[in-house]
Amino acid sequence: MSVKRRTESRFPASLFALYLVTLLLMSGIHMGLVTLINENQQWPTVIQVLIPVVYWCLVAGALTMFTRRKIIKTYDQPMKALARAADRVAQGDFSVYIPPIHTTNRHDYLDLMFLDFNKMVAELGSLETMRTDFVANVSHEIKTPLAGIQNYAQLLRRPGLTKEEQEAYISAILSSTRRLSALVTNILKLNKLESQQIVPRYEPYDLCRQLSECAMRFESIWEEKGIEFDADMEDRATIYGDESLMELVWNNLLSNAFKFTQPGGTVTLKQTSDEAAVTVFVSDTGCGISQETQKHMFDKFYQGDTSHATEGNGLGLALVLRVLQLMNATIQVDSAEGRGTTFTVEIPAHRKSEGT
Ligand SMILES: Nc1ncnc2c1ncn2[C@@H]1O[C@H](COP(=O)(O)OP(=O)(O)O)[C@@H](O)[C@H]1O
Ligand SMILES: [Mg+2]
Repeated sequence: MSVKRRTESRFPASLFALYLVTLLLMSGIHMGLVTLINENQQWPTVIQVLIPVVYWCLVAGALTMFTRRKIIKTYDQPMKALARAADRVAQGDFSVYIPPIHTTNRHDYLDLMFLDFNKMVAELGSLETMRTDFVANVSHEIKTPLAGIQNYAQLLRRPGLTKEEQEAYISAILSSTRRLSALVTNILKLNKLESQQIVPRYEPYDLCRQLSECAMRFESIWEEKGIEFDADMEDRATIYGDESLMELVWNNLLSNAFKFTQPGGTVTLKQTSDEAAVTVFVSDTGCGISQETQKHMFDKFYQGDTSHATEGNGLGLALVLRVLQLMNATIQVDSAEGRGTTFTVEIPAHRKSEGT
């Protein structure tokens, strides 16, 4: 690919012209000198011999200097710049950028090497930030529940606790351990999905049954929180997909809907289908999602401001998106702050064609 971008002239015409003119000039002067010597035969022989020798020495010296300057400018300086840049990258500075020497339409292979080098460094830099961000996020997510466990365990040690207090501390510890274990499970799942260790199975199954089963698991939550739950589905809708992976999608979307909706609100699960696709809408009348959060909510560990106090670790929607990509499905969000959110998932009704 890069070979095509390179302008490579086999015969540098300007250099040829320069050499031709210089050589003509030189030999012109040489002829002049010879004529001068011939006219002054009375000069000592040493001088007659020395004049052309000195002259050609000067010419050779000038050419040597010219070539050396050319080489330094064309190769030495760019190579030194590259070496300095590579050294900085080796020391962990990924902000390095080496500007190409020529303008875009006159790029030679050195320019292309610089451009590729810049691209490589940018790529390395983003990998590096991703890695450090990931480690920072995971550490933070693990530290919070661990600190909780530690606190409550210390409280449990105090003498003279009532039965209720003990119970409360124990359930706080249990909830932290559940949070930890959910975190680890999610990280592992996401990791496996991304490194393609999970090979999705595409099998026909009834989506409506799956949706009702998932929704029923939230019954205790909507009753406890005083949220109204509406379902509007067909009797049956067959899709091709991996049932256990799709379950992650509905669980995450529904859990978000219930989590971000205040008591008295409504969560609606709607499903329709046509020739081409089966569509599922998960709507709530909750707090809504700001534009800023909408931009990032599918990123790993991203949580909108609203949710830091509540449960979760920001991996839910990242998992949802990854699974839906594997299923060839799409997800859209429509949300108004303070009024609610609708997630729309569209799954192709037909089997993914082989090889795609
Ligand atoms: N139904 C929803 N209503 C309001 N905000 C939502 C909703 N779903 C997702 N969000 C926002 O998107 C963020 C990312 O969601 P998610 O990846 O499931 O993480 P988590 O639920 O662990 O916070 C949430 O922190 C929240 O700010
Ligand atoms: Mg979530």
